[in-house]
Amino acid sequence: MTFEEGRAQFPVLEQLAYLQAGSVGPLARATIEAMHVEEERNLRDGRAGMPYFERVLALRDELRREIGALVGAGPELVALTTSTTDGCNIVLAGLDLGPDDEVVTTTDEHFGLIGPLHASGAKVVVVPPEPDQIVSAVTPRTRLLALSHVLWTTGQVLVVHDLKAHTGLPILVDGAQSVGAIPVDARGLDFYTISGQKWLCGPEATGALVVAEPERLRVGRPSYFAQQEHQPNGAFVPKPGASRFDPGWISAAQLSGLRAALEAQPEWRFTRAAEMAERCRAALQDAGMDVVVPSDRATLVSWRVPAEESAAFVARLSAAGVIVRDLLGRGLVRASVGWWTSDDDLERLVAAL
Ligand SMILES: Cc1ncc(COP(=O)(O)O)c(C=O)c1O
Repeated sequence: MTFEEGRAQFPVLEQLAYLQAGSVGPLARATIEAMHVEEERNLRDGRAGMPYFERVLALRDELRREIGALVGAGPELVALTTSTTDGCNIVLAGLDLGPDDEVVTTTDEHFGLIGPLHASGAKVVVVPPEPDQIVSAVTPRTRLLALSHVLWTTGQVLVVHDLKAHTGLPILVDGAQSVGAIPVDARGLDFYTISGQKWLCGPEATGALVVAEPERLRVGRPSYFAQQEHQPNGAFVPKPGASRFDPGWISAAQLSGLRAALEAQPEWRFTRAAEMAERCRAALQDAGMDVVVPSDRATLVSWRVPAEESAAFVARLSAAGVIVRDLLGRGLVRASVGWWTSDDDLERLVAAL
């Protein structure tokens, strides 16, 4: 697949400099077509009977295999969720943390992780996103490290494998800004979340959770079809593997749409995305912007704008057809640079500043 062929899959890029995949990625025509096929089938044949259920369950298995392959995990370690937030909630519901337990996290986590941490009942210890500070915050009461692989604020990459190796603690990694943007190997990490709608360009309400040892995490949020058997009193026997954590039904349209989206990704995606993100940083710096440049960085590019001006700044760019994000209250504006981003997109960004 050439760059032109890859980019041409996304109609939105014909009109907008769409620098928005950190929130929701562009949709490929094939993704929407795959969803339409499923919806038409449902319309025509209904959504009942064994053929329907067997078909959707088979789609789930295919997707489990394909998503697992993205991060080096076998299908038996993959639960299909509707979001990263879902994945974080599933893990925390199963860990049974209480007020005597501590979880170490960073100042730069998204609510999708920090919200579930807060709700877990554990003491949440928040430190700046630096490896030595994270390690220093560990005490004998620490039960979990919970961190993003790529920070949503600045695109900084955290050394999650090193932190796991150094502390030996269970680690929950928020992969919302990593999977599809940079190469990821989830092996050796206890829990790794994936968002389907961002860098994988899948439909909304798709995602996954990779659990290294599914039998060691309690099923804290059971769903009906994800258990092997259940009793009238609610007792249940979980299915083998991580499918026991599947939080609910996902439509055939979403499953097929995400599968099509995965197929639309070229092999060269990570090198090109990294290269374009560097070009974006350089272009913004040349234009006089105060760009945040972490030493280890991914495909999110942030620059400082006075907090009270950032909303108007983003609205002005949007009016010029350039879609970036205001990181509310943080005094940062963020561009998400994908493998599909062109030099023309970056020129439009600079021209609109
Ligand atoms: C780092 C991070 N975590 C979690 C989320 C929430 O993702 P989801 O909508 O898949 O729950 C986001 C979304 O913006 C994010 O940037």
